[in-house]
Amino acid sequence: MEIRPTDTPSRELLLLADESEASIADYAGRSHCHAAFEEGLIVGQYLLLHTRPFTAEIVNIAVAPDRQRQGIGTALLRHAIQTARKAGFRILEIGTGDSGTGQIALYERCGFVRCGVDVDYFRKHYPAPIIENGVECRHMVRLRMELLPK
Ligand code: ACO
Repeated sequence: MEIRPTDTPSRELLLLADESEASIADYAGRSHCHAAFEEGLIVGQYLLLHTRPFTAEIVNIAVAPDRQRQGIGTALLRHAIQTARKAGFRILEIGTGDSGTGQIALYERCGFVRCGVDVDYFRKHYPAPIIENGVECRHMVRLRMELLPK
């Protein structure tokens, strides 16, 4: 598997991480995509967005369904951390639905720390309720990491 920049992210994977076309349209053109390739095919990808001074955010990350839970997501997160650090960012952020406890644990294992909750983010910005495991995904949990220069 090779992780490298690409100008042509997989649309299917973008929508897997973010079901709102409007949300993707907001950030996709302003982000930089890196993808994990296997035999020329994208098996995972992430989008890095410069949000505020010194700050970047992983706004979209996804791994192909048949390749999930095999370490690719962790490899992409580690790659994103290195990429953001090398680019000179001081803070790296990520946000996800409050119903995604497995995902939050994954981000914490990679070094992100919970720093807040964007209350009612999904109710405000998504056209229809998102239900996961029978629970409405209502708030966005915000996580961040301070990037020490190396
Ligand atoms: N349920 C429970 N735990 C999960 C889940 C899940 N759906 N997804 C990831 N995890 C956690 C678990 O702790 C798991 O460890 P385990 O398999 O030992 O239980 C660990 O993450 C898996 O780590 P990896 O194999 O490195 O991660 P993976 O390759 O599966 O990629 C990702 C993780 C990107 C979240 C993938 O599951 C995915 O594409 N999901 C669908 C799209 C998505 O929701 N993307 C994130 C939205 S938020 C955003 O884009 C900023």
